[in-house]
Amino acid sequence: MTTLAIPQTDPRAGYLEQKIEIDAAIARVLASGHYILGAEVEAFEAAFAAWLGIGHAVGAGSGTDAIELALRACGIGPSAKTPALVFTVSHTAVATVAAIERAGAVPVLVDIEPGGFTMDPASLAAALRDPPPGRPAAILPVHLYGEPAALAAILELARRHGLRLIEDCAQSHGAAYHGRPTGSFGDIACFSFYPTKNLGALGDAGMTATDDPELAVSLRELREYGWHERYVSARSGINTRLDPLQAAILAARLPRLADDNLRRQRVAARYDSGLAGLPLALPGRRAECTHVFHQYVIRAPGHDRQRDRLREHLRSAQIGTGIHYPVPVHLQPAYQGRFGEFPAGLPETTRAMGEILSLPIYPQLGPDATDRVIAEIRRFFE
Ligand SMILES: Cc1ncc(COP(=O)(O)O)c(C=O)c1O
Repeated sequence: MTTLAIPQTDPRAGYLEQKIEIDAAIARVLASGHYILGAEVEAFEAAFAAWLGIGHAVGAGSGTDAIELALRACGIGPSAKTPALVFTVSHTAVATVAAIERAGAVPVLVDIEPGGFTMDPASLAAALRDPPPGRPAAILPVHLYGEPAALAAILELARRHGLRLIEDCAQSHGAAYHGRPTGSFGDIACFSFYPTKNLGALGDAGMTATDDPELAVSLRELREYGWHERYVSARSGINTRLDPLQAAILAARLPRLADDNLRRQRVAARYDSGLAGLPLALPGRRAECTHVFHQYVIRAPGHDRQRDRLREHLRSAQIGTGIHYPVPVHLQPAYQGRFGEFPAGLPETTRAMGEILSLPIYPQLGPDATDRVIAEIRRFFE
């Protein structure tokens, strides 16, 4: 792996910034002799629930596992008679859809908003009016790139159709909709602490969160073999426990999250002004949303391979970029053709695929480095 002068993301910089606290947290767990669940996990679950302002947080091994647990806790899983349908977007990490399938449900993929990156309520409404065979069970919006989805309209559709709402908050720690944090709207919220996330572990880790005490009990049982008490499986569950090492690291990092998000927002604001006037679409801001910029995603016009040429130009200047994601789920080899024919083709999703480019963004990216990225992009268009 080549090291770029300015990487697209830099989890190591986050670790080094907090090395003393993180090393101490790791040493504490190692010395405790307790390496599965226990006090460290409980302490982080309590701190995370308090931070989110929600009743219960239940750790999991990853964000993908958190989504599977959430669906299963809602009774959404395999069915011999009528498959359970879960409505989500194709423009997401493949993890969202993989988790739905692993729960035993059938994903129904809808489009993103024109010019935006999150679930289009109009596309969702159309899919709910004319669903594929099965029982509509849940809506699973993704707050992609750190921007909340159109929650008011989506919640209204969930209520009208009697569906569960599960939020995919893997990229939206600290984002808010009308001042209320993402993750506090749905029946259950699912977080990933993949190392590059706004709140990142130093390995795999995830979390579910809910205000419903019964769902919290189900989540706890399901994550450990369906154990109602030790060695007594009240239902069939899985093994996806939050690692106490990761819990201790995350507990050390949580108090910094608000400041880290602020630093990401500052980088985004610098890009906004530095890139203004270029033939690019910059990320929009919705008045009702607090965007926490897990990614800063620009759109280059789809013709003449502009996006790819800009990416190559930046790479030759030692600047890393990303494409989140190069191929939407419904066009992936593993999924193509399996979720219906998409006669309308999810046009906004497919358009985004050829235009999106994620610029470097992380809390430690300073003004000089940000300005260098801006200058190189300006040079490309000169
Ligand atoms: C939108 C989204 N959903 C789900 C996940 C899955 O999380 P994890 O990698 O922790 O399994 C991720 C992260 O990779 C993600 O970005």
